[in-house]
Amino acid sequence: MSRPDRTIILDARALARALQRMAVEVLELAHGTDDLVLIGIQRRGVELAERIARLIEQDEGVVVPRGALDITLYRDDLETVGPKPVIGETRIPGDLTGKHVVIVDDVLYTGRTVRAALDELADFGRPKRISLCVLVDRGGRELPIQPDIVGKQVKVNSGERVDVLVEELDGRDEVDLVGLEDLSADQIRLILDTAEPFKEVSERPIKKVPALRGKTIVNLFFEASTRTRISFEFAEKRLSADTVNVAASGSAVQKGETLVDTARNLEAMRIDMVVIRHPSSGAAEFLGNRIRSNVINAGDGKHEHPTQGLLDLLTIRDKLGKIEGIKVCLVGDVLHSRVARSNIWGLLKLGAEVGVCGPDTLLPRGIEELGVCRFRRIEEAIAWADVLNVLRLQLERMEMGFIPSVREYYRVFGVTAERLERATRPMTIMHPGPMNRGVEIDSRVADGPHSVILDQVTNGVAVRMAVLYLLAGGRPELADAAKGSGGPE
Ligand code: CP
Repeated sequence: MSRPDRTIILDARALARALQRMAVEVLELAHGTDDLVLIGIQRRGVELAERIARLIEQDEGVVVPRGALDITLYRDDLETVGPKPVIGETRIPGDLTGKHVVIVDDVLYTGRTVRAALDELADFGRPKRISLCVLVDRGGRELPIQPDIVGKQVKVNSGERVDVLVEELDGRDEVDLVGLEDLSADQIRLILDTAEPFKEVSERPIKKVPALRGKTIVNLFFEASTRTRISFEFAEKRLSADTVNVAASGSAVQKGETLVDTARNLEAMRIDMVVIRHPSSGAAEFLGNRIRSNVINAGDGKHEHPTQGLLDLLTIRDKLGKIEGIKVCLVGDVLHSRVARSNIWGLLKLGAEVGVCGPDTLLPRGIEELGVCRFRRIEEAIAWADVLNVLRLQLERMEMGFIPSVREYYRVFGVTAERLERATRPMTIMHPGPMNRGVEIDSRVADGPHSVILDQVTNGVAVRMAVLYLLAGGRPELADAAKGSGGPE
């Protein structure tokens, strides 16, 4: 599993020196401590404010009032609201009227956090001055906000992130620059964690929240779909987005219009996102590189089906409490399966052990090189696995000769009740749907106690809500994962 590419830009000693210097500058800026109040922005800003206050106290021998501000409810952007927005403590030391308030934060980026802090502070009095003190200014401002005091100025590309670690919360002091290319495991966890609160939305009597009000989403389905199309549509509607469905039949595609022209025409009508299912592998990425809107892959040919992979991961995590160390075997037509590809990279990145089982003709050559083990007999796979994800035989994508007959396939590789009865440990049965009962899976297994097949469908709505929500909130680093270009090729 690849690790994030971290570069330490401030070690503990450099961070301590920066804080020392910032404390001196705060004192100079405020002309002493008489009216000074330090307010840290949750969470790391609070710890940094505390340390600066203590450094000033050591030198000046007076107590510096300090407080904490959680700006979550004052944000004007979605992107920085965490997966499970946790509202931290806001603690203001008395009326701020007439005070010189110094806001302390760890990283200054767009300026939106500071704007929210200014809004919130206005509820606590009318300071005579508000200054801004940040440990790292990474540039990339969207609002006209400049810091008064900076610990370190860093030039950071949009594909990188700055992580500030503090002893009190993280066990060590450090500032890291983190490349995003290798962050897919974190991205996956972010999406899964974001899906959790959305599960509850679907259980409410009124299954709708305003998060994507005003966003327009086009569902371009150029291939048959029941689960994915309806699941995306529910996800969009439950987030209050405006949605339009376009199918190949009945659209200008039938008259020879290209995919890009169709999408550009839709963009001319000011859409925000496109969800696409297409029979050609790579169609989602191709489109994503040619239009401005975010493109979400709802399954492209034999390539990827990222939201299916994500909902499968969420279902495994729900059922078994974790993904790391769990043995998952994909059974059947791995060769033609976009679901298998999305599952394999997602599972490996989150530390699962992955196996594949099926006839040699339906397993991609060299699949072991991805770190996947291969089983030639279904009995061996059942003996090894905690989870069987049974794949549909994609007869529509097969030319002749992959299997002798459907009956023969079921006899040798079918996941039957008799075979499962011989399992020596609890087994979880998954299937992405649509199922071919009596071909790859026995009805008694599909509807039996080990099956989480309908839980997968339920989780599909929450996962798609999470992906839409995160992308609408401007998480460009997730766009590749949504298009299905995040896996090893
Ligand atoms: N699992 C899945 O993609 O199902 P549909 O083809 O019905 O969308």
